[in-house]
Amino acid sequence: MDKILVLDFGGQYNQLIARRVRSFGVFAEILPYTAKLEKIKKNAYKGIIFTGGPNSVFDPESPHYSKEILSIGVPVLGICYGCQLMAWMSGGTVETAPVSEYGKVTLKAKTGSRLLDGVPAKSTVWMSHTDYVAKAPGGFRITARTDDCPCAAMENEERRLYAVQFHPEVTHTEYGDSILKNFVLGICACSRDWAMDDFIDRTVGKIRETVGDKKVILGLSGGVDSSVAAALISRAIGKNLTCVFVDQGLMRKDEGDFVESTFTKLFDMNFIRVDASDKFFEKLKGIKDPERKRKRISREFYNVFWDVIRDIADGDAFFAQGTIYPDRIESGKGATKGKAGSSVIKTHHNMGKIPKDVDFLGVIEPLGDLFKDEVRSVGERLGIPRELVWRQPFPGPGLGVRIIGEVTRDKVRLLQEADYILRDEMAKCGYEKELSQFFCVFTGSKAVGVMGDHRTYENVIALRAVTTDDFMTADWAKIPYDILAKVSSRITNEVRGINRIVYDITSKPPATVEWE
Ligand code: XMP
Repeated sequence: MDKILVLDFGGQYNQLIARRVRSFGVFAEILPYTAKLEKIKKNAYKGIIFTGGPNSVFDPESPHYSKEILSIGVPVLGICYGCQLMAWMSGGTVETAPVSEYGKVTLKAKTGSRLLDGVPAKSTVWMSHTDYVAKAPGGFRITARTDDCPCAAMENEERRLYAVQFHPEVTHTEYGDSILKNFVLGICACSRDWAMDDFIDRTVGKIRETVGDKKVILGLSGGVDSSVAAALISRAIGKNLTCVFVDQGLMRKDEGDFVESTFTKLFDMNFIRVDASDKFFEKLKGIKDPERKRKRISREFYNVFWDVIRDIADGDAFFAQGTIYPDRIESGKGATKGKAGSSVIKTHHNMGKIPKDVDFLGVIEPLGDLFKDEVRSVGERLGIPRELVWRQPFPGPGLGVRIIGEVTRDKVRLLQEADYILRDEMAKCGYEKELSQFFCVFTGSKAVGVMGDHRTYENVIALRAVTTDDFMTADWAKIPYDILAKVSSRITNEVRGINRIVYDITSKPPATVEWE
């Protein structure tokens, strides 16, 4: 399979570059700029892309790479910082630009460039830079400029080195996809053999080969990643897969039953559902502080989960988890300190590390190469219901962090009912597609109300809905009033014990998405 390397210099769009390349049907992987040249050569990439990054190439602390990489016979495309770096490595001049460019800018392209083939004389590109290439290196031809950037694209066709100061990977760049395609499919001549159907067949084969007739145990949370991993492994080894699903009593209404019926009806596997709700409510008694609550839920989950696993693992099974590619990527961030950031490994759904006294033959992570959208696509191909494949994120501690103050069974029940109505209405009117995440919060406040001739003193529920790309920042969603009105009226009419609904109109920051 042909592969493209995205060499990460700390840019915020590194994953986006890899995802764009993959969307053409070509496998792309990301390595930090600290990756050894020997490793890169051994991997036989068909092309290399240098990402952007926040540094200045002339800062001695900034991330650099051995010049040799430009001469190993593999085409290279430098983007933004990567463009400046290529210029710097090849003897060009990089300076602080008199005018920084940020946002949409008009690119004026010359003809005759393979990279810019199909890009008209004038088009819109996305810029974000304070330095620029003041003088292109010898042997390089400038192929595009903007009003403030004399070298917005350059190339050395003979050596197959290309660079663009703008970001072709972001959608604001009108011909960004064509430029990346020209590089990946044209210049690097990659074949388009990264397809999800092939991925499924290949991975099923690999799992069978690794596992043989041994057993595999997987912790299923009902989230997208672990569900898709479960379906994939089940296709490979059927009943030799055992999924353990811990129900802490803090899921949304009917969710545990839905997960159980989906996996037991649709897939061939052993399914163990552990009802640990009594234990969880007991452990949560009297705990109000959000951090203590989170820790308690996490610890209890971990205890229950591993108690079950310990019994069935017996040193003769593999452990599987739904780790996906972004969880594994070692980033090129932290570049200013001259070293790569540390790698982040998923502690999946609060499972934490595998305890020392649980012995496995090995760990398998069948989705370790996939981005989230690819995981979803595999999930759909494997026949997992859309409801599960496209579900919004749900925090590990579940409704426990959506109940302010002490968590009790009664509060969970009220919150589940209210949340169910919110989801039902959003699905009916189709507005859920506009939202990244939405849910109800049990605020812990009580308010006076009136019902018929009676005064009531009942619970206040908050509605929370956000739109976001990455959940690092989020905007509160401007849900139309008529939808909010319907939700409010249904919850207060249908759920006894709730007499007031408020809408959270705070973005992140300063708020977080969850209330705890
Ligand atoms: P916050 O509240 O931090 O949430 O703005 C950002 C996103 O993360 C989810 N979230 C969690 N997910 N375990 C998880 O698996 C957790 O403990 C947790 N806390 C928050 C939250 O739902 C939102 O999507």
